Amino acid sequence: MQLPPIHPAIVHFPIALIIVAFFADLIARITGRQSFRNFGFWSLLVALGTGVLTLIAGYADMVRLPLNAAGEDFVRLHMISGLTLAALLIVLTIWRWRIWKAQLPAVSRAFLGTGCLLLLLTLFQGWYGGEMVYSQGLGVAAAGKSPEMATQAQERLAAVTGFFTGKEYQTAIGSPASSESGRGASLEKK
Ligand code: HEM
Repeated sequence: MQLPPIHPAIVHFPIALIIVAFFADLIARITGRQSFRNFGFWSLLVALGTGVLTLIAGYADMVRLPLNAAGEDFVRLHMISGLTLAALLIVLTIWRWRIWKAQLPAVSRAFLGTGCLLLLLTLFQGWYGGEMVYSQGLGVAAAGKSPEMATQAQERLAAVTGFFTGKEYQTAIGSPASSESGRGASLEKK
């Protein structure tokens, strides 16, 4: 059985947690509140853990993709910026760990500046990854750019949906041309 793409399912964790960690530390520095200081520290730690998983999943998805020359360039750039992001995240987490250990009341300006860099790189990474998928169709079975045949991939969602609706689905959804309401075809077999 082919594994579905795993990377898109977990990318949201490091993206959200890096943003949360930055703002929690910023608020802690402005207000001096201990709760935000704790929140910033733990968020960054979990961002690192989920970031490593994201990297591994991204690599596992990448090596399974049928890529043309342009596709390889797109994914290589995404991978290089992903690895740079990971390196910066490791440095920042070690730095944050030392601040935590030293029981300093707040993070320094230099730390926040580096955190801001990481934040910008993360936003770029998320945007670029999303564009690869939604504008180029990379990894999308329905666009013929996945290791799976579209019908194979669609069977998975059809089976889960069928379990809940009690209907049997045969083909793809979302073809407005054949829809009476214009909101996508209902392609279930009664
Ligand atoms: C070694 C590093 C990485 C590699 C090789 C990689 C590879 C990929 C690949 C192949 C895709 C296309 C979808 C798929 O088949 O999974 C993708 C999409 C994406 N990547 Fe990465 N990636 C890496 C790191 C990261 C990191 C660190 C982030 C964010 C923190 C990220 C964010 C995204 C996003 C947001 C998408 C679009 C997912 C969606 O469909 O919503 N990637 N990446």
